Amino acid sequence: MNRKRSLVLTGMLSGMALAVGMGTLFHARRFRHHAHLRYHPRYREDVTLRDGTRVRLRLIRPEDKRLLAEGMGRLSAESRYHRFHVPKTSLSESELRYLTEVDGINHFALGAVNRRYPREGLGVARFVRIPGEPQVAEAAIAVLDRMQHHGLGRLLFQRLIEAARERGFERLRCEVLATNTPAIRLLTGLAPQTVVRRDGTTVQIEIPVQFPEEASAA
Ligand SMILES: CC(C)(COP(=O)(O)OP(=O)(O)OC[C@H]1O[C@@H](n2cnc3c(N)ncnc32)[C@H](O)[C@@H]1OP(=O)(O)O)[C@@H](O)C(=O)NCCC(=O)NCCS
Repeated sequence: MNRKRSLVLTGMLSGMALAVGMGTLFHARRFRHHAHLRYHPRYREDVTLRDGTRVRLRLIRPEDKRLLAEGMGRLSAESRYHRFHVPKTSLSESELRYLTEVDGINHFALGAVNRRYPREGLGVARFVRIPGEPQVAEAAIAVLDRMQHHGLGRLLFQRLIEAARERGFERLRCEVLATNTPAIRLLTGLAPQTVVRRDGTTVQIEIPVQFPEEASAA
């Protein structure tokens, strides 16, 4: 994997952050023309997980910087490594800007918060359009360790696929460490005709998003 080109693993290329920051202003206005989308800033969905935890799904917004920073602090070292592919303990100011000041179209981020404690973020899934491959977006996901295995990862990624589909993408591409069995199982079970390529220590999983609704795994 060429890490320099990865948009969701680091999301920290400063030029990129600047470009997306400027894009945010532009697209905030443009979003008015996307009022027909389900995954729009007004989207809210309340779901009860297998363990009874009630979560709210909503789009990530600029005010979520603290939520993301705290969530990063609550992730185990292993989960942080699986998400970012480098040992990483915290997010810088520019990383937080990049991860929260998104335009909702080319960079889309969906969060799950605890319904009882809405200032507690439980998981985030996002995708970023790949320059030069406009039909493809790079995707990533992280769920707090204590919330894993309750179906939240699958739920977030299913919604991510729907959001990518309604934005006209053809595929979501994920770079996953070859040792990350939970993520590989999750990502290869979501859609028909998912393509898996092994590349040294990483696995690239490409998920088609324009499949009929009924073909989506439950
Ligand atoms: C990968 C990750 C998002 C899965 O989230 P989750 O909420 O635990 O996933 P779910 O509970 O929805 O499980 C979905 C499927 O994933 C697989 N899975 C989840 N945990 C697993 C585990 N420990 N071992 C094997 N498979 C596992 C199973 O196929 C599961 O389906 P099932 O519930 O029908 O058995 C989570 O482990 C995580 O955040 N990891 C750290 C960050 C990361 O690895 N991101 C991916 C790369 S960007």
